[in-house]
Amino acid sequence: MELLDRTVAFVRGTLSDAESGHDWWHIQRVWNNTKLILENESADRLVCELAALLHDIADSKFHDGDETIGPRVAGEFLSKENVSPEIIEHVQQIILNMSFKASLGEITFDSPELQIVRDADRLDAIGAIGIARAFNYGGYKNREIYNPTILAEENMSKEAYKHTTAPTINHFYEKLLLLKDKMHTQTAKRIAKQRHQYMEGFLQQFYAEWDGKA
Ligand code: ADP
Ligand code: NI
Repeated sequence: MELLDRTVAFVRGTLSDAESGHDWWHIQRVWNNTKLILENESADRLVCELAALLHDIADSKFHDGDETIGPRVAGEFLSKENVSPEIIEHVQQIILNMSFKASLGEITFDSPELQIVRDADRLDAIGAIGIARAFNYGGYKNREIYNPTILAEENMSKEAYKHTTAPTINHFYEKLLLLKDKMHTQTAKRIAKQRHQYMEGFLQQFYAEWDGKA
């Protein structure tokens, strides 16, 4: 068996009872997005594929916010596989920098490989899949789907927002509709544009139905 096959087996096994936002199917979609983006980018292919497969191996949300747990678990697996220290270090940096803290600007690593895998992950948060994931998350948290009296603009800072019980529609304005402009690679920008339009169409239809107009 090749390294990537063994990585797939490790990830599938580890995530077998993960919540559906970060289950194996999320990983498989991000891996596929990564391979698609790689068709038009020059980057270290192995680093990208390993990082895509291992990026959600341990979610800090379930480990007291410890952002080092993911990189550590990935590193232990790759060391056992005798992967070179340079590759391990790079994969760990990518995982660390795709985390929530990194999105707050506290960490400053960058590489073409990070940009590719982060674009691939962000693509999975928009479009039809993104809509499904958002309402799934909202349902899990027992949130309202929409509430016309709780407007998106009222939602303060990113960090404060994480702790509110805002309806799921608000998440579109806080995050999903912003992702299109956060892509780095040409391929992701192109795909994001189409998925963004799809979400805007969805919202239009949603409000029309809400008001009994469609
Ligand atoms: P990521 O894994 O991309 O860093 P999260 O763990 O925050 O993101 O979220 C996983 C999925 O749940 C994503 O599709 C995201 O859009 C969705 N999600 C996160 N927070 C919310 C929220 N407050 N309301 C609805 N969906 C959410
Ligand atoms: Ni992810």
